[in-house]
Amino acid sequence: MNSGDIKDDEYYDDALSLASSIDTQYIEKIKELKRKRKAIILAHNYQRPEIQDLADLVGDSLDLSKKAQASDAKVVVFCGVQFMAESAAILSPEKTVLLPVKEAGCQLADMITVQELRKKKKENPKAVIVCYVNSSAEVKAESDICCTSANGIGVVNSLKENRILFVPDEHLGRYLESKTDKDFILWRGFCPAHYNLLPKDILKAKKEHPQAKVLVHPECRLSVIDLADEAFSTNGMLEYAKKSEAKEFIIGTEMGVVHRLKKENPGKNFYVPSENLICSSMKLITLKEVAESLEKMRYKIEIPEEVRKRAKKSLDRMLEV
Ligand code: 13P
Repeated sequence: MNSGDIKDDEYYDDALSLASSIDTQYIEKIKELKRKRKAIILAHNYQRPEIQDLADLVGDSLDLSKKAQASDAKVVVFCGVQFMAESAAILSPEKTVLLPVKEAGCQLADMITVQELRKKKKENPKAVIVCYVNSSAEVKAESDICCTSANGIGVVNSLKENRILFVPDEHLGRYLESKTDKDFILWRGFCPAHYNLLPKDILKAKKEHPQAKVLVHPECRLSVIDLADEAFSTNGMLEYAKKSEAKEFIIGTEMGVVHRLKKENPGKNFYVPSENLICSSMKLITLKEVAESLEKMRYKIEIPEEVRKRAKKSLDRMLEV
């Protein structure tokens, strides 16, 4: 057989084995650098599978901020997006927090600036500002208390005030409004991945998998949440799937979480109802970026101390709840 006869499959197998040997080299390098730097690797549930498998801890926003604080590591490599790494740096100023790709931002967090928030605050002087953690350190510093999707209801119910200015996610705000007796003023921000999930996608998935439980993230539209069995943070979905008797689940959040769901629940099936459920920022981090981050100690999260202290008050108040 001459070289012209080599089948596509053989090229594909060669490419796969080359890629896996490169991955192994990066993983070895990361392990060595981690020891040298006394570092810990935290990964969000939306990260690429190989990053989740490599991480010391994988979790949702709330879980990761607590774990970053509790760890005695000197360096935290945060495989997630900017606001998550910032939360770790706000809570643990004695640690060096690295975000492997500096462009890994959050479009939702970018939908509000501190100047815009100050203006809105002036227009609503009696409202208490509840800020979703998907926001910048400056916006957190200007707020009264933070919340995540896991503790939003508890945070809102802990407030004695009735009027709430909720920033920046309109949809999480609407969901919390529907679950509490408070009066909400909503900012018009949204997460593009969750916003793109439509009721028709859920209806189609339910038709294809009639026995499946539907779990969605509270960043989804209320019309999508209304069609679901439950709305949870990503860790909430993982806990529910583990305990549930059900064998099939439709997962209405960024598809990266399906890696952990499958790994922790062999024998159960998970379906993603839309191919749009992807956060491109979360996928920017690769093994190569993590190795380079540890090698070059980049990109350090730096927050002015005055902003950090005020942002910490909002996060601490949330963690007390
Ligand atoms: P979780 O806190 O549920 O992991 O959500 C994070 C997030 O950014 C959702 O888009």
